[in-house]
Amino acid sequence: MSAFHIPQGLIEQLRTARQVAVLTGAGISAESGVPTFRDAQTGLWAQYDPQELATRRAFQQNPQLVWAWYAWRRGLVAQAVPNPGHHALVTLERFTPHFTLITQNVDGLHAQAGSQNVIELHGNIKRIKCFDHDHPVDHWEEETDVQPYCPVCGSALRPDVVWFGESLPAVALHTAVNAARTCDIFLSIGTSALVQPAASLPIEAHQRRITVVEINPHPTPLTPYATYVLPGPAGEILPALVAQVTQ
Ligand code: APR
Repeated sequence: MSAFHIPQGLIEQLRTARQVAVLTGAGISAESGVPTFRDAQTGLWAQYDPQELATRRAFQQNPQLVWAWYAWRRGLVAQAVPNPGHHALVTLERFTPHFTLITQNVDGLHAQAGSQNVIELHGNIKRIKCFDHDHPVDHWEEETDVQPYCPVCGSALRPDVVWFGESLPAVALHTAVNAARTCDIFLSIGTSALVQPAASLPIEAHQRRITVVEINPHPTPLTPYATYVLPGPAGEILPALVAQVTQ
């Protein structure tokens, strides 16, 4: 018997759904120990506001500072492993005929867990490209405090993530919007539902009378629109939910 009450109607809908779309945010990786942007930063980085470091302007003004911050975050992500929430989504994907996992996370933990059809809306922190031309770069000095440069064009290297004020990858966004509009059920998991355009995806589904499920310990702007709200940690609720759907 699960500690969480999972409505029978939700279990039935997930069991019979042909198309499931899922949007995840930093909350699904919280139980893997990856700090969110909105968590207080620790140690050396406590004095900086992440939302002010994750911009093109910040990088142009002080590339070394932004590079060092991402090197620190890459170190945290490198130590993190997928948690039971990530694994439950892998099981749900195997069970569902058409499954699209849209994530705002840049930590790569969904793919590491074994999820197949993953759309990384905000890029991936483990990939590096150059600032001027987006040249992908495979090798760089991670240990050094010195800003590395592109071997092709000489511009500064940066993480291949979407910073505040930058556009999302067009194909990824188009595929995500399409999944939100055509699914039978949409799950929003561990996201504050504040950052656009990702936050509009469950609203798109809601406007088409698609069942929307929210899993989050705290209410968000999406909560009033959700058909089912499962308040609590994704690492506990998702395994309980998926076990009941697939049993
Ligand atoms: N399980 C589920 N949800 C959780 C858990 C958990 N264990 N722990 C925290 N949460 C919820 C919080 O209540 C919050 O609503 O996860 C959400 C995390 O919100 P944000 O930190 O705002 O993360 P996210 O929504 O992914 O942010 C979107 O903004 O910070 C930028 O580009 C960054 O991709 C990110 C985007």
